[in-house]
Amino acid sequence: MNRTIGVFDSGVGGLSVLQHIREALPEADLIYVADSGHVPYGDRTAAFIEARSMALTRFLLSQGAEAIVIACNTATAAAALPLRKQFSKIPFIGMEPAIKPAVAATKSNVVGVLATVGTLESARFAALLEKYAGSVKIVTQGCPGLVEVVERGDLRSLEARRLVERYTAPLLQAGADTFILGCTHYPFLAPLIREVVGEEISLIDTGAAVARELKRRVDTELPPRVAMGVIGSESFHTSGDVERATRITSQLWGKDVAVAALPQAYS
Ligand code: DGL
Repeated sequence: MNRTIGVFDSGVGGLSVLQHIREALPEADLIYVADSGHVPYGDRTAAFIEARSMALTRFLLSQGAEAIVIACNTATAAAALPLRKQFSKIPFIGMEPAIKPAVAATKSNVVGVLATVGTLESARFAALLEKYAGSVKIVTQGCPGLVEVVERGDLRSLEARRLVERYTAPLLQAGADTFILGCTHYPFLAPLIREVVGEEISLIDTGAAVARELKRRVDTELPPRVAMGVIGSESFHTSGDVERATRITSQLWGKDVAVAALPQAYS
């Protein structure tokens, strides 16, 4: 039997992480839930995000998930601790803006962070800065509207470009040479961000590191499985509109996939 890994996000952004998980664990069955009926999380209360994260986790466990990736920086900030407390036997792998590698990489000693307001205002983010920023100046930029353009599959429009220009300008002005993509939706905008900011700026996201950490924890914490050499499957669920989710998920995943409605009890 293949391993089963659950992955959730406020919407389709976590698919950027799922791509890395697929590469790291080719034999795992992956269950993805997009909470697109409640996106964006960025301006919701921590209590709301925690309640949604609990419901999505219950759904993933009902489907046989043995480990769960919180493929959302905002949900990790609001809900990782309560989730780990409530489901203490399940490995949870969260995501947070990659301050440590960015601080190691910057030459100008200024790092820019693009993230949701929820992430930037969280105690978890403050603790991350305290721990890793050292003498490097960290300039943060909340990006209202950016999650929504990715949810529409709109990675190239004038509106998307204007938002990217507006949010990257203050970071460039502050002298940042390293930008952290601190929201899992943003890697889908990386080609556009690259066009706007030029080749000199390093863009850092955490999808690959999270997939490596998932593999390490699966290998060390879950009971051993005999590898069957069978390629794992993916299944996709949404709390939003199924027709739209099918279209956007297929676009971002890079092939036609079916998306099922999240059962009412978890929506
Ligand atoms: N992908 C989520 C993150 O990583 C987006 C949160 C939102 O819906 O605002 O933060």
